[in-house]
Amino acid sequence: MKVTVKVPATTANIGPGFDCFGIALSIYNKITLEELIYPAEGLEINVFSGENENDSSLLTIPTDRTNIVYKAVELLYNYVGQTPPGLKINIEANIPIAKGLGSSASVIVGGILAANKLLGNPADEAALLSIANEVEGHPDNITPAILGGFNFSSAEEDGSIVYRKIDWPENWKFIVCIPDYELSTQISRSVLPEKVDMKDAIFNLKRSAMFIEALHKENAELMKYALNDKLHQVHRSRLVTGFDKAKERLDNLPHILGTVISGAGPAVLVIYEKNNNFEDIKSELSAVWRESGVKVAIKNINIDTKGAVII
Ligand code: HSE
Repeated sequence: MKVTVKVPATTANIGPGFDCFGIALSIYNKITLEELIYPAEGLEINVFSGENENDSSLLTIPTDRTNIVYKAVELLYNYVGQTPPGLKINIEANIPIAKGLGSSASVIVGGILAANKLLGNPADEAALLSIANEVEGHPDNITPAILGGFNFSSAEEDGSIVYRKIDWPENWKFIVCIPDYELSTQISRSVLPEKVDMKDAIFNLKRSAMFIEALHKENAELMKYALNDKLHQVHRSRLVTGFDKAKERLDNLPHILGTVISGAGPAVLVIYEKNNNFEDIKSELSAVWRESGVKVAIKNINIDTKGAVII
């Protein structure tokens, strides 16, 4: 039997909601899992580049038992007291790697959901979230990858995930700027301080609360106020070329709700109201990265509201 799962990219944090907020975006990886028929055994992992042809970073993905998709699959088999049989795993990678767009969360979720289907769906949503988070460690990517849309989530000490999904207003759109260099989450987290200033914590607390109210009421003015942060972006901006300038150039324009670092970066996410012109914003953004001498892909991107689906 063979199962394919299509899983969206995700953008985590979204300004004030560090390690908590996440949104699923319409770029997809596809993971296919096939149980090999006895006496065939072993593990075969194939990685294909989909839209990003010639993406050399794909060559760095391990194709042995250290592969994170395999680890995720193994955990799901262990969950039902089994070890994985001989397997073939195909990964169609369209989400660029190490850009802050949840590529790891996407493939982990794909592996877990495919294994769950092959095993007859023993794990419910809560178990799937918790197992996926055991491999990934970032529920703010895992939760929207599974559920789609905007979510906030928290991994608890017992491994469970507390989460909620809230509708995202249709009129609020996204542009993603993807620079042509990679930034690992590990490096991006290494520049964060261990302790934060009380004033900065309070700054984010207020804005996270306002963010949720802005979503409920579709209040653009409040969202514009909420899309700011003092816990992570200020420390990471030196690793994220273009972010400070893009924010400075865009934030005062009409219909721009905010400019934030996508996840751990280096991608930057711009949130704007629908009646704004994409080409105008794009030319402002292109100028920022041109000035800093870094190549960037600037794309309009939609929210994904469904999350991972078996196809
Ligand atoms: N919230 C995490 C971070 C997301 O910003 O480090 C990592 O994908």
